[in-house]
Amino acid sequence: MAATNNKLVTEFGVFDVPEQQVETLSQDEKQFVKAKIKKLLKQQNAVLVAHYYVDAEIQMLADETGGVVSDSLDMARFGNEHPASTLIVAGVRFMGETAKILNPEKRILMPDINAECSLDLLCPADAFAKFRAEHPDRTAVVYANTSAEVKALSDWVVTSSIALEVAEYLKSRGEKILWAPDKHLGGYIKETTGADMLLWDGACIVHESFQSEALEALSKQYPDAVIIAHPESPRAVLELAQVVGSTSQLLDAVIKLPAEQFIVATDRGIFHKMREMAPGKLLLEAPTGGKGATCQSCAHCPWMSLNSLQKVLTCLEQGSGEIVVDEAIRKDALTPLQSMMDFGKSRNKSVAGDA
Ligand code: 13P
Ligand code: SF4
Repeated sequence: MAATNNKLVTEFGVFDVPEQQVETLSQDEKQFVKAKIKKLLKQQNAVLVAHYYVDAEIQMLADETGGVVSDSLDMARFGNEHPASTLIVAGVRFMGETAKILNPEKRILMPDINAECSLDLLCPADAFAKFRAEHPDRTAVVYANTSAEVKALSDWVVTSSIALEVAEYLKSRGEKILWAPDKHLGGYIKETTGADMLLWDGACIVHESFQSEALEALSKQYPDAVIIAHPESPRAVLELAQVVGSTSQLLDAVIKLPAEQFIVATDRGIFHKMREMAPGKLLLEAPTGGKGATCQSCAHCPWMSLNSLQKVLTCLEQGSGEIVVDEAIRKDALTPLQSMMDFGKSRNKSVAGDA
């Protein structure tokens, strides 16, 4: 994979990477658009399900209107349990597809249907099917950051917040794992659990750009700062981190740890929630491979940046950005996804039971 400005060059083709989008509405315009969105959410029995990486205004609106801002697992849980008949999924496409797979009766709209994920693009279904066919003795575990088609070819779907536990469980059953697509998360799970895993060669263009040497230098400047990292980051970065976890787990660390300073190796969109939940703590961006025009992501997912207030309004007004998943694929993808949801529930129950 080579990530040059605006292009992702892979063995599976060359993909466009969008320019970072910046909100251009004035304060008055924002208030106007927000008021309209609130009205339409009520009228259409709709709820906003947002990821931590999207624009802070969308996160605030989700909170204000009874929606959710969370990691990808909790987005799936929330959308599944909420009685709304329409879910507005502000994130990237795999999040919208996950919502549709779990809730075929609900209408799933996305502010921008072109919000991709490099991990998804780097794992086309036909190539994954071949990989799977070459290793019939292995249990196929895929990251949630994949298409519905790839999920349909798998035995388990996991998100970063539950991946370690599922791998431990499969290992305890003597199962060998075929993992796709994120090599960094896969490597981290393999090393942490000791599970027998064969890894696909994919990566997130945002997290892959974090630089361990520059991180070490920054850490020397701020010796009291706790380094926290998402497991999509390269191994050398994870080795420097005191906390490795999903976006929710990183947020939790900032809130609960007594430290006052943190170096954060994940998308800077999450700084909004971190500042809100842990006011006064110093949050530093982990260094990336470039600056300004020389870096492709600059620690912010270009596809997540496609979500804007105006587009939330447009999808509600026009019913645009609807997620459609072929029914046969949806049914096949539901089984591995449901396994994760059920596993999460049983684990939560046993944790509550232990208390
Ligand atoms: P989380 O499930 O940790 O929110 O991760 C989703 C993602 O795409 C991170 O880049
Ligand atoms: Fe995908 Fe990376 Fe963007 Fe997350 S940050 S959605 S893994 S490209």
